[in-house]
Amino acid sequence: MKFAKRLDAVPPYLFAELERKVSEAEKAGVDVISLGIGDPDLPTPPAVIDALTDAARDPRTHQYPTNHGTEEFRSAAASFYRDRFGVDLDPAGEVIPVLGGKEGVGHIALACLDPGDVCLAPDPGYPPYTSGPVFAGAQVHYLPLREENGFLPDLDGAPDAKLLYLNYPNNPTGATAELEFFAHAIDVARERDLIVVHDNAYSEVAFDGYRPPSFLQAEGAKEVGVEIFSLSKGWNMTGWRAALVAGNAELVDRYRHLKTNLDSGMSEAVQHAAAVALTEEREFPREISEVYARRRDLLATGLREVGLKVRVPRATPYFWVAVPDGHTSASFTELMLEQASVLVSPGDSYGPSGAGYVRLSLTVPDSRLEEAVDRITRALVIIQS
Ligand SMILES: Cc1ncc(COP(=O)(O)O)c(C=O)c1O
Repeated sequence: MKFAKRLDAVPPYLFAELERKVSEAEKAGVDVISLGIGDPDLPTPPAVIDALTDAARDPRTHQYPTNHGTEEFRSAAASFYRDRFGVDLDPAGEVIPVLGGKEGVGHIALACLDPGDVCLAPDPGYPPYTSGPVFAGAQVHYLPLREENGFLPDLDGAPDAKLLYLNYPNNPTGATAELEFFAHAIDVARERDLIVVHDNAYSEVAFDGYRPPSFLQAEGAKEVGVEIFSLSKGWNMTGWRAALVAGNAELVDRYRHLKTNLDSGMSEAVQHAAAVALTEEREFPREISEVYARRRDLLATGLREVGLKVRVPRATPYFWVAVPDGHTSASFTELMLEQASVLVSPGDSYGPSGAGYVRLSLTVPDSRLEEAVDRITRALVIIQS
């Protein structure tokens, strides 16, 4: 069989590789604690589950949905954006449901980019910022996120391009951005006729009273782009595939045009449940953030005790940690797996500028995290002695 070459242009998906390593170790009888993948360990709010089961009994949800999305879902999204971010969205034309933020990130490249176009992507960054454009035949130009710049890209120094992905709060660095940064991105986009896609997967996972802004809060955002907002992390709904693209009406319309030719939309039962999350369960992400804040402090204390340089994140369930001198991302990841049976994500698998870092995720139960901290501490103390 001969397959499309485009698949060879992207590496195997990062987590597929990590999962393979864990399953190898587990087969050998090792109890591995995975801090590699950012998949919340806690359940979806009960009211959202009830909403799904009720909706599943309604035969109207058994038929094809539409890619417009239900009126209920789009209105719930608009009212959430108004109350949470102070952003007005027209539910009829400025919102579309998508099957998880990942779908949004990948497919928006197909809606915007032609072969030969240039796409700007953060480095390190969520892998689909590369694979989406590559599948569209575009070239990806990485914008390094450096610690000394607060992990914000240098937009002024970027080459001309057609699309820019941004993502704050950021995976994998845990960095946050304020409205001034988004405003500057909008200025640059206007000057250079650039489409901005802000991937907002993490604004609801934030600590110590901090409330990360939406890109759409910045003046003029809707003129230049869209935001992808996901329910996955804030409401523990990674398995539900519930997210939305909101903002520029023309882009939302083009996106719908693409989607209508590729899939038949989000199950209406899931749309109902997601609408309930965005209306009745608005406080849930704050509760979940408290759980992560507790885990964050536990991990920060442990890592500092063994002399690792730790920046405590204000948002996201991720720690982005510089590896000790003499190590690379790969050697430190291997050391953690072999000596502590703890899986971390090597930083350079998020892009070349991630070299010298690893990412640790807080999405395991407290007791497992405590155990992981113990194991990491013991392994590092033994190595240092
Ligand atoms: C930056 C970023 N964007 C998007 C996603 C996708 O989330 P989902 O497809 O579950 O909405 C993730 C998931 O980890 C992410 O880290």
